[in-house]
Amino acid sequence: MRLHDLDRAVDPVEEDAFAVGLVDERQPVPLRAEPGVALDEIVLGKAEKSRDCSDVRIVQAHEAGPAAAVAASLAFIPDRCRPGARSARTPAMRLLITGGCGFIGSNFVRFILEHYQPEFVTNVDALTYAGNPENLAGIAEQYADRYEFHRADIADRQAMDEIMSRHKYFAVINFAAESHVDRSIDSPENFIHTNVTGTEILLALARKHGVKRFVQISTDEVYGSLGPEGRFTETSPIDPSSPYSASKAAADLLALASFKTYGQEVVVTRCSNNYGPYQFPEKLIPLMITRALRDQPLPVYGDGLNVRDWIHVDDHCRAVTAALLDGRPGEVYNVGADSEMRNIDVVELILETLGKPRSLINYVTDRLGHDRRYAIDSSKIRTELDWKPIHEGQSGIAETIQWYLDHSAWWEPLLNR
Ligand SMILES: NC(=O)c1ccc[n+]([C@@H]2O[C@H](COP(=O)([O-])OP(=O)(O)OC[C@H]3O[C@@H](n4cnc5c(N)ncnc54)[C@H](O)[C@@H]3O)[C@@H](O)[C@H]2O)c1
Repeated sequence: MRLHDLDRAVDPVEEDAFAVGLVDERQPVPLRAEPGVALDEIVLGKAEKSRDCSDVRIVQAHEAGPAAAVAASLAFIPDRCRPGARSARTPAMRLLITGGCGFIGSNFVRFILEHYQPEFVTNVDALTYAGNPENLAGIAEQYADRYEFHRADIADRQAMDEIMSRHKYFAVINFAAESHVDRSIDSPENFIHTNVTGTEILLALARKHGVKRFVQISTDEVYGSLGPEGRFTETSPIDPSSPYSASKAAADLLALASFKTYGQEVVVTRCSNNYGPYQFPEKLIPLMITRALRDQPLPVYGDGLNVRDWIHVDDHCRAVTAALLDGRPGEVYNVGADSEMRNIDVVELILETLGKPRSLINYVTDRLGHDRRYAIDSSKIRTELDWKPIHEGQSGIAETIQWYLDHSAWWEPLLNR
């Protein structure tokens, strides 16, 4: 029997019998597993919980697997059912999500619809090469009464004005961006158009239409590069190295200035490198997986010793939700999972997991302005917003490799874009 057969029993809101996981021994929480997770990998039992989800207690455990396997094998634990959950304060939300057909945006659309029951979600995406409606296959049907998609450019003021006049939105969450550093080196103008002009237009229209909150999704790349020691905090200097990170820094500053000038409730999140399902196969992890699977050389920049701080996209989605609901206006929150890895180690992990030879590694001329190391100090969001990552780096990347193995029909058509 697989977990998805038990969906009804897993609904934690009204029922008292559902799947229960142990994040650690003292903290039982109801959780919703990804379909296909075998039952012996979770704890199935009976639990009691208070109406507002603020307290959960295991009454009886029927079947149990090791706690570590539970935490590692399940997608996430809904914040609304964690002790001290935010749900009691969650307003009826109409959300405008931009870039919702991209990697992180599509994961966020799924996440928020499944776990926070927003009143309505509008997804606006220009469907550039990186935008893919297949990332949200089934969502429009599943949530027909509270999800809509518009193909539009966030920098098209008139189109966005029309879209924003149709609902009274609680928040804009701006994921839309040109996001690939290499492309920004070749054509910076697209990055200024979307990342800078587009963000300015969204900020102005959000004010015009009385949207309460604005979450600007940014990146740790705005801080530039680190040496071997230290981590970026929210007060580290902005020092971008590429047209991509410079355009994201400009957008951050516009957003933060909107708080100072207009009192607009803007929150900026700066996250480290994401991995997970639905990432376009031009970025390091899916590029290496999809090339290794076809026995093609794996291009590794420079000496391969550049360090990135990896985080699972689900953990990023949970952090964005925390910022959306509880982030202090005018503040920046760094998001990271303390999971630094050298690029070459990521590539070797992929080869090892796929059973492919190291001889596929092909060192190529380094990227211009290539940042040496990123590392995030995320203590502010952990302390203030009670957020912490759930996924562990090595096993999360291994799960992601499995996802790409299982979803070649998703990524193969993207290879020629
Ligand atoms: N991927 C990461 O590791 C990472 C890390 C930190 C922050 N971020 C930030 O998160 C956001 C999402 O990143 P991603 O990796 O999902 O990017 P992505 O390239 O996968 O998706 C971007 C989406 O934006 C859409 N888009 C582009 N231009 C648009 C426009 N003018 N109007 C409307 N839609 C447009 C694209 O069609 C695409 O669907 C970006 O703002 C990025 O800077 C990404």
